[in-house]
Amino acid sequence: MKTLTEAGITEEALARLANCPIPRLKEIMTSLTRHLHEFAREVSLTPTEWEAGIEFLTEVGHITDEKRQEFILLSDTLGLSAMVDIIANRARDNDWTESSLLGPFFRNGAPKFPNDADISDGAAGEKLIVSGQVLSHGGKPIARATVDTWQASADGMYDLQQPHRDEMKLRGRFQTDDDGRFRFRTVRPSSYPVPADGPVGRMLRALGRHPYRPAHLHFMFAARGYRTLTTALYLAGDRYLDSDAVFGAKESLVVRAEPALSSNVKAGAIDFRFILREV
Ligand code: BEZ
Ligand code: FE
Repeated sequence: MKTLTEAGITEEALARLANCPIPRLKEIMTSLTRHLHEFAREVSLTPTEWEAGIEFLTEVGHITDEKRQEFILLSDTLGLSAMVDIIANRARDNDWTESSLLGPFFRNGAPKFPNDADISDGAAGEKLIVSGQVLSHGGKPIARATVDTWQASADGMYDLQQPHRDEMKLRGRFQTDDDGRFRFRTVRPSSYPVPADGPVGRMLRALGRHPYRPAHLHFMFAARGYRTLTTALYLAGDRYLDSDAVFGAKESLVVRAEPALSSNVKAGAIDFRFILREV
């Protein structure tokens, strides 16, 4: 029988993958095993610390259900989701609009609105006029693209976090016109904390980290012949732009709200050109 040393156990665990019939699974598990073992060696992980880690992951599992996905939040706050997103969009030798995290607040079936509609339904807050143009890589307007948008309120809450969570608020679906343009009215969203009342929140506090995301509006664009783009626009001046709890904010997606008027009321206006990638 082999004597399993620190190095030997890694070789042995890797050898047990030899018969894995799925090449990609074998590649992933080989790397994961190597890195996990190396991590334990590097920090000299103690049995008590290993147990604390297992307890933490168990709690993450227990609090997860069809409404709350604490594992994704863990991945988000560790920067893993943002890393996977960046890797998937590696081929950026051009001007395609960068993607940003989908997050847990997207809902299918948002109400459809005509261009220029107000999606705020009278919600309190500073008025914001959002306009955009959806273009192909070569600058051709993409007409009849579907534009989904969703955002937090002026006090940093999504409809899904409100008592009447079935009602859809501050979200909508638009269609681009012949020039690839869309436009709607809303209120300026505020920065907000990711759900911090569970194990991930405890982890953030233990690490001395805040749970905030900078103020943003989410978008999802779908058009025939183009890859669906999930992205967000981040409002310039937000104090959390450089320390987004989930590493989603990107410089290319920061927009400044310019002074404007919405129905004779002082407002901010943002305008952005979204460039989709052909399939
Ligand atoms: C969001 O922007 O809605 C979000 C993204 C990741 C985690 C939590 C919230
Ligand atoms: Fe969000």
